[in-house]
Amino acid sequence: SLPVENVQALASNNLEEIPPRYLWPEMEFEDQYCSIEENLHIPVIDLGKLIDPQFTSPENELEKLHLACRDWGFFQVINHGVPEELIEQMKIDTEDFFKLPLEEKKAYAQLPNNIEGYGQAFVVSEDQKLDWGDMLFILPQPIPQRNLRFWPSIPTSFRATLDKYSTELQRVTICLLRLMARNLGLEPVKLTSMFEEGVQGIRMNYYPPCMQSNKVMGLAPHSDATGLTLLIQVNDVQGLQIKKNDKWVPIEPIPGAFIVNIGDIIEIVSNGEYKSIEHRAVVNPRKERLSIAAFHSPNMRTMIGPVPDIVKENTANYKTINHEDYIRLIIASKLDGKTLLGHMKS
Ligand code: SIN
Ligand code: FE2
Repeated sequence: SLPVENVQALASNNLEEIPPRYLWPEMEFEDQYCSIEENLHIPVIDLGKLIDPQFTSPENELEKLHLACRDWGFFQVINHGVPEELIEQMKIDTEDFFKLPLEEKKAYAQLPNNIEGYGQAFVVSEDQKLDWGDMLFILPQPIPQRNLRFWPSIPTSFRATLDKYSTELQRVTICLLRLMARNLGLEPVKLTSMFEEGVQGIRMNYYPPCMQSNKVMGLAPHSDATGLTLLIQVNDVQGLQIKKNDKWVPIEPIPGAFIVNIGDIIEIVSNGEYKSIEHRAVVNPRKERLSIAAFHSPNMRTMIGPVPDIVKENTANYKTINHEDYIRLIIASKLDGKTLLGHMKS
């Protein structure tokens, strides 16, 4: 990847003019301001009802989950069992990290051709539009492959907090996959075994305010190339929007809930039954915004393709390739501008 400027430092200079590589075309702003659908809300799934053996008829909630995965690709999960204090600590440690002086954060800077560390979204060409945000990206799982040089030692609680957060989110992911498998008519292990010892990436996002917020994009429209994403918004500033019926639907996070979305891999695995939806992050004119996204993918041994038990006598809508080739395809699709799912359609 190509090195680009730190946006937090850039934004603190009270810019009169935004550097051209951050400017988005006029049409996008109209999209941003004219085609926003405020009245739609993503489904809310009560995980407590689905895992509590005392709760005798979880069928309604299961059906709700199925429709959320099929028709929305996005939902919020409440009663997930992750301790509130842990989520709060994760937010505090993330805020404290981004408050460090730039020089201290740079101790964790990305290395060439490596996505882990402190820096910016993957930049592959000199004329690629740049996002209005910085990130700290860490791969906490699989544990034997951890690279602690990218784990901040300040704030001092950061490493222990991230370690616990990583484990808890892996657990919630497996739990959701087990339920999705049921909804897809699969033996649960068919999905969960793919994600045991799976790959988990946690990305902490920092979007500085921008007075001309209608000219920049915090995170360009994309779908997640990974399996299942669990996201929290750190502070009270909204910015996540998802594409629904050609309109952008702003997400209003429920305090304490996870915003969950189906990534490309689950769309592929489910042979297209579940949808990986395009989304983006917009920037606030006056306030900084922070979020934490946790991406979950199958382990590196797993082939990426539709599960045979789902395809059955129907045709497979996607190719099956090994995980390494899939990762190569992610990079190739960034280079040639085609979508990853476009490359995977059979
Ligand atoms: C993402 O798509 O991972 C980021 C969304 C956000 O910052 O809310
Ligand atoms: Fe995303």
